[in-house]
Amino acid sequence: MLEEVVKVIEKFVDELNSPQVTKLLSLLPQGKMLRSKLILEITNDEEAILLSAIVEMIHTASLLHDDVIDKATIRRGKSSLNSLYGDKTAVMLGDILYSKAFYELTKLKDPIPQIISNAVAQLSLGELIDVELSREFNTSISRYMEMIEKKTASLIEASAKSAAVLASLDPTPYAIYGKNLGLAFQIVDDILDITQNSLTLGKPSMNDLKEGKTTLPYIYLYNRLNPPQKAKLLSLFKKELNREEREWLLEMFKQTNALEEAKKTAKELGERGLEALGKRDEKLKKIMTSLIDRTF
Ligand code: IPE
Ligand code: IPE
Ligand code: MG
Ligand code: MG
Ligand code: MG
Repeated sequence: MLEEVVKVIEKFVDELNSPQVTKLLSLLPQGKMLRSKLILEITNDEEAILLSAIVEMIHTASLLHDDVIDKATIRRGKSSLNSLYGDKTAVMLGDILYSKAFYELTKLKDPIPQIISNAVAQLSLGELIDVELSREFNTSISRYMEMIEKKTASLIEASAKSAAVLASLDPTPYAIYGKNLGLAFQIVDDILDITQNSLTLGKPSMNDLKEGKTTLPYIYLYNRLNPPQKAKLLSLFKKELNREEREWLLEMFKQTNALEEAKKTAKELGERGLEALGKRDEKLKKIMTSLIDRTF
């Protein structure tokens, strides 16, 4: 099924009739295709494959822009497009992918175009809030949660909801499941930024604090430190860390259990998402648990 999604994406890219775009996009490897797996778990007809391809193109566009915003040099284990060709090329490639995805989206039945396009507006708003929050060391959990709900959960929620629409199921529980899956997914991504190396992640590690992103593990850490430790953490904000500073940070995470706490929050959200489904759906449960326990 996923291969069919990849084929449809290739066809959509070909239809743009630009060897330059085809070549540039070929430099970007496929990702984990979580959103497609989710859609195809809920329904798997021809329309679901089209929906998956559209959502993956939107997701890829968001990553092209995100890497410019985050000044990230690696994506999916390779040099990011912004680092290879510059921000201008990466931004325009993102726009091209978004536009083609929206064009194809208009062919899907109502209200799917509205659900997905609204989610993309939310995603962009979320990225904007992420940028705004990174101006200072944010310690507000509610502002963090609002931001990740928009930048990450909105598209995952919309994917699950649209898949339910295609399958003529009640979309509400699937939307709640998708939203909580998305929240948990971003929290785990924020944990992995700290715990994993760049090779495993396929993207830069320890990049969040440097870019001013005080993600949930950092907020929990800050709340658990004593005043001199808090001051030291603040002094590392937006800085390129040396080895000793990294080690101090990891030691503080260890002493405070802040990473475990963040994982617990992700698990609780996951549970909430599964409860919304009511019935025990083993496959959707597996998607949830595998994303919480993932290493990249
Ligand atoms: C990365 O998404 C951006 C986040 C929402 C954390 P994925 O982890 O799904 O990226 P790929 O598609 O597998 O590379
Ligand atoms: C980006 O979040 C989420 C998007 C909506 C693109 P991150 O900035 O944490 O994603 P990564 O870690 O670069 O994949
Ligand atoms: Mg990023
Ligand atoms: Mg980002
Ligand atoms: Mg991240």
